[in-house]
Amino acid sequence: MLPPRTDFPDRFVFGAATSAYQIEGSAQGGAGLSHWDTFAATPGNIMDDSNGSRACDHLNRWPEDLDLIRDAGFDAYRFSTSWARVMPDGVNVNAEGLDFYDRLVDGMLDRGLRPFLTYHHWDLPAALSAQGGWQNRDIPARFADLCVTVNARIGDRVESAATLNEPWCIAWLSHFLGAHAPGLRDIRAASRAMHHVLLAHGTAIRALRAEGATNLGIVLNFETSQPADNSPAAERAAETQDAIYNQWFIRALMGQGYPEAALEGIGPHLPQGWQQDMDLIAQPLDWLGVNYYTRRLYTGNDGLWPQAAEVPGPLPKTQMDWEIRPEGLTEFLTRLARDHTGSLPLYVTENGMALAAGADIADDARRVQFIADHLRATKAAMDRGVDVRGFFYWSLLDNYEWGWGYGPRFGLVHVDYDTMARTPKASWHAFRSMLGG
Ligand code: FCB
Repeated sequence: MLPPRTDFPDRFVFGAATSAYQIEGSAQGGAGLSHWDTFAATPGNIMDDSNGSRACDHLNRWPEDLDLIRDAGFDAYRFSTSWARVMPDGVNVNAEGLDFYDRLVDGMLDRGLRPFLTYHHWDLPAALSAQGGWQNRDIPARFADLCVTVNARIGDRVESAATLNEPWCIAWLSHFLGAHAPGLRDIRAASRAMHHVLLAHGTAIRALRAEGATNLGIVLNFETSQPADNSPAAERAAETQDAIYNQWFIRALMGQGYPEAALEGIGPHLPQGWQQDMDLIAQPLDWLGVNYYTRRLYTGNDGLWPQAAEVPGPLPKTQMDWEIRPEGLTEFLTRLARDHTGSLPLYVTENGMALAAGADIADDARRVQFIADHLRATKAAMDRGVDVRGFFYWSLLDNYEWGWGYGPRFGLVHVDYDTMARTPKASWHAFRSMLGG
């Protein structure tokens, strides 16, 4: 059972989250190719060789999907706009794309759902990727252009907007670890992306404010990073990982500068004159989104980079092999408020677990337990004085889990990828009982 809603303040927002490429169907509606389409078209990148061309066919089935959010009793829906749908070639606007988001936002309001927009959740137009994408110093201006264009169409009706989802994934996972589009493993590309993604955020915030947009934030991911043993080398590896993953972005955003432990490896490869960008990056924010899923353990290694030293941990795991550790969420929320964000409102913008097909419907009690534990972990941070304003479950639907393809099932609602039928799982019903849908 989930905790009663009355455990949370009246104005606390409960929502479900998705992202464009993972559900819409990228081949329809006049969208251009994104670098996820081209990454997925390259053999060996996606576990089941699938792509998001059809995904959950949300582009056509969105009314039913919004009904499912409303019927569970959620207050809000966190969704993203697809850059390649809005600007197929990265420059010119696809009117059909903007029309879609316009209808979608009206559909939310018709159902009493509060729209929480994310401007970019990874589907960069392939045309921009071909010009260097996040490595290119032009990308902040291009991104600000996207935000201003989308804001001009739907900004009057969205309650809140995040510039970017998970810059660590956009930059590091994609340009250093090679696991996400564009699949590079290059320290120069990665370092430039680590900086430009933040510069893009700052540039977009400034441009949006000039347009009168309000309630602006960004969504970061956090992952507990701990030493696997008590050797100094393991401690160093965990600290470096923490610096790159958990501190790089929030420190820069809060005007605290890049962390020393990360600069050691990244600094030599940053674009020249990066120090002059730090003020623009540290634009005032109205809120911060926190995505939290797991922790990782590191032994020592000789090199600069901790990833090489990751070892499996002993805790129970999800289908992704991610350890389940709810207290990490309490720790991050309290640490953020203490060390970085002060009184800035926080939202848990993503938290959830994947279960394998079959188990996902039959054995959904595990997901209900996972959600209950993480809601309590959120509440524990609030009891310590942290201003957490909402919790969004990832994800409304089973969907395209990036490099993992369609195997992992994160949804509150099961999707049959042959018929596209939606079937609410026990976790959806648990939210419905909790929220009175
Ligand atoms: C997050 C992403 C989201 C989804 C979940 C499982 O990193 O923001 O798109 O892939 O993980």
